[in-house]
Amino acid sequence: MSQKTEIARRRTFGIVAHPDAGKTTLTEKLLLFGGAIQVAGAVKSNKIKKTTTSDFMEIERQRGISVATSVMAFDYADKKINILDTPGHKDFAEDTYRTLTAVDSVIVVIDVAKGVEEQTEKLVEVCRMRRTPVIVFVNKLDRPGKEAFDLIDEIEQKLHLNARPLSWPIGMGDRFQGVYNLFEEKLVLFRPDNKQGRPEEVIEFNDLADPQLDSLVGEDAAEELRGEVEMINEVYPDFARQDYLDGEISPVFFGSAVNNFGVKELLDCFVQIAPPPRPRPAEERQVEPNEDQFSGFVFKIHANMDPRHRDRIAFLRICSGTFERNTNYLHVRQGRKLKFANPTSFMAAKKEVVDEAFAGDVVGLYDSGNFKIGDTLTEGEELHFKGVPSFSPEQFRRVINGDPLKSKQLAKGIDQLMDEGVAQLFTRTVDNAQIIGTVGALQFDVIQYRLEHEYGAKVIYEPINLHKALWVTSEDPAAMRAFLERRRQHVGVDKSGRNVYLAESAWTLQMAKDNHPEIEFHSTSEL
Ligand code: G4P
Repeated sequence: MSQKTEIARRRTFGIVAHPDAGKTTLTEKLLLFGGAIQVAGAVKSNKIKKTTTSDFMEIERQRGISVATSVMAFDYADKKINILDTPGHKDFAEDTYRTLTAVDSVIVVIDVAKGVEEQTEKLVEVCRMRRTPVIVFVNKLDRPGKEAFDLIDEIEQKLHLNARPLSWPIGMGDRFQGVYNLFEEKLVLFRPDNKQGRPEEVIEFNDLADPQLDSLVGEDAAEELRGEVEMINEVYPDFARQDYLDGEISPVFFGSAVNNFGVKELLDCFVQIAPPPRPRPAEERQVEPNEDQFSGFVFKIHANMDPRHRDRIAFLRICSGTFERNTNYLHVRQGRKLKFANPTSFMAAKKEVVDEAFAGDVVGLYDSGNFKIGDTLTEGEELHFKGVPSFSPEQFRRVINGDPLKSKQLAKGIDQLMDEGVAQLFTRTVDNAQIIGTVGALQFDVIQYRLEHEYGAKVIYEPINLHKALWVTSEDPAAMRAFLERRRQHVGVDKSGRNVYLAESAWTLQMAKDNHPEIEFHSTSEL
């Protein structure tokens, strides 16, 4: 197969969900369809069971197993599907956000009873920012839940997406009979014991007025479905693939992952409409996936759990061309050539050494400390990919050295952990205080533990009253200087020396914005 054909058949996406909505179950069913696993439970067994251990231990264990589930690839309908795992934990980390920078599209899973939950809101916000095409899968239709129209409203309001139902449920919970697939005009009837993927009963049905509908689902349900579908077609715009690809409209499907119901419809539609690898903006120019020359960027770094081996795996998203094993590539930031003897790809939960991989794929590179999040590899061109920002953290602690004899180790440990993207470090200008900011509070325990076990350093945290750290810029250098001077108690720099405003409260932040209209406040480091 030519490079062009290989790239055109890649579909790289992430599944986004609040914990417990059914992401693991859906992933597993998709892998079953793709033949990547043979029995249900294969992915699940990797998952952390809810135990009595502390959340912190859970994160540590997750670190161990999530290498295996970081990327799951399989072939389906001539497409090569790459699912990138977006770790979902109630105390999730920036890693999850950042994985979204490496996908071309996203499937959002929503629990029919719980509706749109908090983490989903945050993650979809990142998708919207990047104009990533989004498909929504409403899960657990075998259980009682919210009315379908109410849910669509909620999706539109909370996720700020323009929803377009492409399937519609017939009943719910005990009365759930199946869905009408509006995309393919088929009636798909629900059989609750379909866990291992037996075919569903699918009936071509392009005229809902057909009285056969009444005999299949009963008169009441048939009438209701007719009325609702009519309403959908009146209220929602026709589905146009381009609108979806532009991030303007999000198709919505209904189903029950655990019953393997509606999953095939989702997958069949996905392979038809989801985008192949998309062009990526670099600071220098736009990079097209089909270019002859290889390029890619690191979006995630996974540290070895074993403190005696400080090697790590850097996950590289290939943006253009073909990546080859044992070939010299330019590490743009370091300005030197590197080659990789054992790049791995991920087929389901297995890791394999690969000889070549194409734009859209993700390869794992063993790394002894050369990589930082956002680093670019190329065949020689000086490219810097954009769109791998840091996200404004919401939890803060001041770092104090707990062992004066180990200050070098502490500095090194913090430096490396920040490069891995575990958290962010800010230095407050007025007193040089070192402040660590994270997205989820548990990361502090992880950092403390890893500093001690991997670097022999001791960190003590001091609480610090901070609401948010936002990057600040201005077109007007004098205004910037004035701002930094007037707010000198509350400004600092991030690890790359960019100016950051450290807001103590939502109120002071608003005041700063009101008083300094010439200053722009950014919630990601990519300005
Ligand atoms: P997550 O990865 O998003 O956290 O969710 P996961 O797939 O682990 O699903 C969370 C729970 O929801 C699981 O139950 C799973 O079996 C259940 N579930 C998933 N899809 C459906 C569905 O369509 N209908 C119903 N009724 N339940 C569903 P659990 O009790 O936490 O785990 P398990 O003991 O079943 O493995």
